[in-house]
Amino acid sequence: MKFDAPATTNPIDRLTIVGQPVDRIDGPLKTTGTARYAYERHDIAPNAAYGYIVGAAIAKGRITSIDLAAAKAAPGVLAIVTADSAGKLDKGSKNTAKLLAGPEVQHYHQAVAVVVAETFEQARAAAQLVHVSYQSERGTFDLAAERDTAKPAKVMSDPGDSSVGDFAAAFAAAPVKIDETYSTPDESHAMMEPHASTAMWEGDKLTVWTSNQMIAWGVQDLAKTLGIPKENVRLVSPYIGGGFGGKLFLRADAVLAALGARAAGRPVKLTLQRALVFNNTTHRPATIQRLRIGADRDGKITAIGHESWSGDLPDGKPEGAISQTRLLYAGPNRMTATRLAVLDLPEGNSMRAPGEAPGMMALEIAIDEIAEKLKLDPVEFRIRNDTQVVPDVGEASSKPGNSTATKQLPFSQRQLIECMRIGADKFGWDKRNPQPASVRDGRWLVGMGVAAAFRNNMLTKSAARVRLEQDGTLVVETDMTDIGTGSYTIIGQTAAEMMGLPLQKISVRLGDSRFPVSAGSGGQWGGNNSTAGVYAACVKLREAVARKLGFNSAEAEFEGGEVRAGNRRVPLADAVRDGQIEAEDGIEYGDLQKKAQQSTFGAHFVEVGVDAATAEIRVRRMLAVCAAGRILNPKTARSQVIGAMTMGVGAALMEELVVDKKVGFFVNHDLAGYEVPVHADIPHQDMIFLDETDPMSSPMKAKGVAELGICGVAAAIANAVYNATGVRVRDYPVTLDKLI
Ligand code: MOS
Repeated sequence: MKFDAPATTNPIDRLTIVGQPVDRIDGPLKTTGTARYAYERHDIAPNAAYGYIVGAAIAKGRITSIDLAAAKAAPGVLAIVTADSAGKLDKGSKNTAKLLAGPEVQHYHQAVAVVVAETFEQARAAAQLVHVSYQSERGTFDLAAERDTAKPAKVMSDPGDSSVGDFAAAFAAAPVKIDETYSTPDESHAMMEPHASTAMWEGDKLTVWTSNQMIAWGVQDLAKTLGIPKENVRLVSPYIGGGFGGKLFLRADAVLAALGARAAGRPVKLTLQRALVFNNTTHRPATIQRLRIGADRDGKITAIGHESWSGDLPDGKPEGAISQTRLLYAGPNRMTATRLAVLDLPEGNSMRAPGEAPGMMALEIAIDEIAEKLKLDPVEFRIRNDTQVVPDVGEASSKPGNSTATKQLPFSQRQLIECMRIGADKFGWDKRNPQPASVRDGRWLVGMGVAAAFRNNMLTKSAARVRLEQDGTLVVETDMTDIGTGSYTIIGQTAAEMMGLPLQKISVRLGDSRFPVSAGSGGQWGGNNSTAGVYAACVKLREAVARKLGFNSAEAEFEGGEVRAGNRRVPLADAVRDGQIEAEDGIEYGDLQKKAQQSTFGAHFVEVGVDAATAEIRVRRMLAVCAAGRILNPKTARSQVIGAMTMGVGAALMEELVVDKKVGFFVNHDLAGYEVPVHADIPHQDMIFLDETDPMSSPMKAKGVAELGICGVAAAIANAVYNATGVRVRDYPVTLDKLI
């Protein structure tokens, strides 16, 4: 189905099941431990051996020799694979570094060998006996030190640097201005379930049960890496214990499980040991960001410039920290620039709202700073600089899948002002004292902070297959993944609404490359696009059922397990008396995105307390108000935003991969040293969705929602800390040592 005009009324609008806060249909499977994750496929591969990866002990250089004798002789060892024995391996198309090193080592803990043994313990013990000799080379590991060597770089499909009006002249002439530099650290996804795969060969056909957000990308890259036809690869990933961008791409666990299984002649299961999750996979790259904002005395932005520096391996990608600055606030004179340095740290890539999450961490402090200079309330300042059209005229304004902006491109929906006003009202913003360090509650200095939230809504094609079976069940199959987000549930709700069946009658099957290719889970595009694909398949199934039952499909209504038109009502079950009916279709988008910029908006309000003696920082209250199109399930969507806000607290106060600048690796590579917030860190947390539908986004009229919840949070906290203490911290995370 092609979707290239604003959506009209359709069966989803009934909202009898879609839009309801129903419980997750996969909840019982997860809470009872019966959902099988990638490392638990004893059911299908009972004789699986265990793989264990040896990671490189240097960050840059060459492997001169590998002595496998002792490891091979160790108890239980079945096979050892290194680059020498693996045969020709392609790099794949999505990763910058190779997933099996040799002879070149590109980063610390890059896989050097996989040891396969009868038990996990035997594989681990033998891995310690693999003796690798290296010739190491000097690497670069320090972004600040390499900043001046950074080169212009493009953020995904954006055209690179942007310039509108005359930024330099306008900034120079601005009566009120700020020019500040901010920094964000390297961060790790740190999901609960480490990357894991169980691989099994049947002849030249490979099946991998894995933990991956994007099935079709994974199949493509696994086939390319191994040099085998795509048709011979099946990837299955029905349950995922968190991804956050770290499982968007094929990783070493899948490749080395497959190579290990081939060498051992047995299925192999392999999980990245926790340390390798941090140094073997991708991470969010550190950034240095310079913001220059000039305003007139009425509080209108006249000039806004945002430059971002980040680093990656040679031929790598920059962090797109400037993206939101092209879209969020008005102002006639603007510039953005992205610079990329070469760093020999593990590969940088997408994590939890790449681009906007770290970009908003800087931009939204800068906005607070200029508002303060203007003696304007920061909520009022943001409202005064709202724009209903894309301000970055003449340049591409967004991410892949989105369009090139033309003059006066409107936003499809933009309720930033509403989010700000409602949030301010509900949070009690009027009680904030604009004078920093002036509110005391016992030993606590108390402050409030605000930030906007912004994240784009990306449209990408997505397909599904639906089948009405003779027992009255409707089966939905799509390779869409559920990374803990609620995909099973909203897809089930969509099919139930479309077919007029109760949710209990829908069986949702996800995450298998045998199913039609979906949008997958990433960039907050999963919910809207994957349900729109199911919608399209259901439209086709309705037509087939109507035809079968002798209805005019334009008139037929599907409700209460019946097909109805005029006075005629026929049980849906009648259509499948003599056999099941199946339909397959997908949603594809025309040039709708050229007619309007699609983004999601919100406002974050935070109250913090800072201990007057120790500078310990505590979040006391948080509120987010989000405008993100139709909310398909207020319960799962709310959970997504609450989770995202929690990650925002991590980014503000705790999360930081500490770089060993001599050896070149992340030191705190475990969940003890890499701290993330827990329930006790955030006593009061709430969020509100505005009642919004966006007919430009899809027939679902929904949008991305999850990543919006993280964007802006950290800055709201930093701004609250400033309001509490009068100390402006521009270097994340905001830890107590930076306040004293
Ligand atoms: Mo997301 S970081 O695009 O999985």
